[in-house]
Amino acid sequence: MRVFALVNQKGGCGKTTAAINWAGALAARGRRVLLVDLDPQAHATMGLGVAADHAPSLIDVLREEATADEALVCCKGGVWLLPANAALGEFEEQSERAIGPEGALARQLDAMRSAFDEVVLDCPPRVDGVLAANALRAAQTAVLVVETGAFALQGAVQALRVLDEMRADRGEEFDLAVLGTLFDRRTNFARELLVALHARFADEMFETVIRTSVRLREAAACGVPVQVLDPSCRAAEDFDALAGEWLARAGVETPVSA
Ligand SMILES: Nc1ncnc2c1ncn2[C@@H]1O[C@H](COP(=O)(O)OP(=O)(O)OP(=O)(O)O)[C@@H](O)[C@H]1O
Ligand SMILES: [Mg+2]
Repeated sequence: MRVFALVNQKGGCGKTTAAINWAGALAARGRRVLLVDLDPQAHATMGLGVAADHAPSLIDVLREEATADEALVCCKGGVWLLPANAALGEFEEQSERAIGPEGALARQLDAMRSAFDEVVLDCPPRVDGVLAANALRAAQTAVLVVETGAFALQGAVQALRVLDEMRADRGEEFDLAVLGTLFDRRTNFARELLVALHARFADEMFETVIRTSVRLREAAACGVPVQVLDPSCRAAEDFDALAGEWLARAGVETPVSA
């Protein structure tokens, strides 16, 4: 079971969109995929067609008031979801007084080791809280999601430095990777920026970049991964390529999705 967290303290850079559709693409290739929504905004939950007040949810599992089995929801496209709701925000505040709260998710995922091949963690837009700490403790890879817009390079360098410091301070062992999103190939600026990101991050950077596509917004509004809405659109192609690249990194061979 591989666990990866999509992170960036910058809001609106495409973390949740990547989480839902990367999960959908991996599921379409036959992987058993779990998406954990660690954001009290519950956007991944809603984007997979589940109500934002669904219960039991992740907060109940982290508090050990419900089992993961009770909280899991099977969504369209074959992705399993541990849903979030607004109560997850309370965990962020209350946990500051508890002992070892950042290990709660890792303990729960450990118990599901044989049930899933891939676990995608969608993080809130902050890396300093206990929810992000839970994600980084549980993850083998932290994927920094970078919008290929103005100041992207500076933002990514700074964000990776913060993650690197957190890793050293806490003695964590996750790898770092960078995924470019919201790429508009029609602009010279975006193309040059992509070259600069590849030059700066080399092996950490995924070859696949996620292009801007209105289909991704439509899919979120319909509560499904884009592979379900329109498997032949370019957004579905991008996420399938990303899934293929991700699996190739681990040496996993799967059929290309239909
Ligand atoms: N590749 C894309 N093409 C078009 N729209 C996109 C793309 N990626 C994301 N969006 C849109 O941009 C907005 C922000 O995306 P998203 O919610 O994925 O970001 P986020 O990083 O998870 O935000 P937050 O920090 O609030 O959690 C959404 O409206 C989403 O539909
Ligand atoms: Mg989000």
